[in-house]
Amino acid sequence: MKRINSRKRLKIRELIYLIIGVCIFTGLLFISMKNVFWFGAYTVLCISFVIYAVYENSTLRIKNLVIESDKISSDFENMKIIFFADIQMDYFYTKNRKKIRKTVNFINQEKPDVILFGGDYINKARGTEAVFEELKLLKAEKGIYSVYGNHDYYDYKKITSRLKDLGIHILKNDSIKLVTENGSIVIAGIDDYLRGEPDVEKALGNSGGNFTVLLCHNPDYFEIMPKESKEKADIILSGHTHGGQLNLFGFAPFVPSRYGSKYRYGLKETENGRIYISSGLGGVVFPMRFMAKPEIVNLILRKKRIPDNRK
Ligand SMILES: [Fe+2]
Repeated sequence: MKRINSRKRLKIRELIYLIIGVCIFTGLLFISMKNVFWFGAYTVLCISFVIYAVYENSTLRIKNLVIESDKISSDFENMKIIFFADIQMDYFYTKNRKKIRKTVNFINQEKPDVILFGGDYINKARGTEAVFEELKLLKAEKGIYSVYGNHDYYDYKKITSRLKDLGIHILKNDSIKLVTENGSIVIAGIDDYLRGEPDVEKALGNSGGNFTVLLCHNPDYFEIMPKESKEKADIILSGHTHGGQLNLFGFAPFVPSRYGSKYRYGLKETENGRIYISSGLGGVVFPMRFMAKPEIVNLILRKKRIPDNRK
């Protein structure tokens, strides 16, 4: 019941934002129509916005995310772990494909030991073949691990088959342990919150006392995740919200979350857990982003050291 009410609230809020946006747009258009100068300025502003937003969508930012824990051994401090999410392959085929190629090349140049993918390979099923044509070049010494996103359910069978063909490990309420000579970490993943059947207790069942990374496509799940699971997962990695995709200095009307901007982007730390929400690579509807640059995440694990004065 609570879920239905919050969805209704979200739709009403989006509708209000849309009405405000249309009013501002038509108002400015009407004012500018009365004066050639203002009409010209308004047109230039709109065109500039679109050009910049298309350009920003084609950029790629590298985000260094440092996570400290006393469970991390030196082997993992030196490990290169790359996380990315939300390719959203779909309508604007060639451009999106170029962007994926650029991302794959960049990741390969980094020579990662581990690659983590946070879900949403596609927007719609017509993107499946193309996205896996590009991803087949992706390499990681110790494996590629992935969860499903809500959009992946549009072509679930084919995506599952392609992931298996490429040797990408699917973590659907499951986990794996990466073991080195002097330690281990666990990588766990849950099924999508909107379209799948997430079972976080099952996913974290074998984490033991190891440092654990949990892949969780939709950050909204963090709201209802049991306290014990939040504590077991040392870092939760999410995507889905695209950093809001189109923002204006923090005003983000199109975040696909029932909690508004709360899980739009970045590292959120609470008493019981911490979650990083990546802005991902792609988006929906238009190939545009504004103040929400696409990114890949360089996950840097550091051993938490006790300060000398507390030894
Ligand atoms: Fe998603």
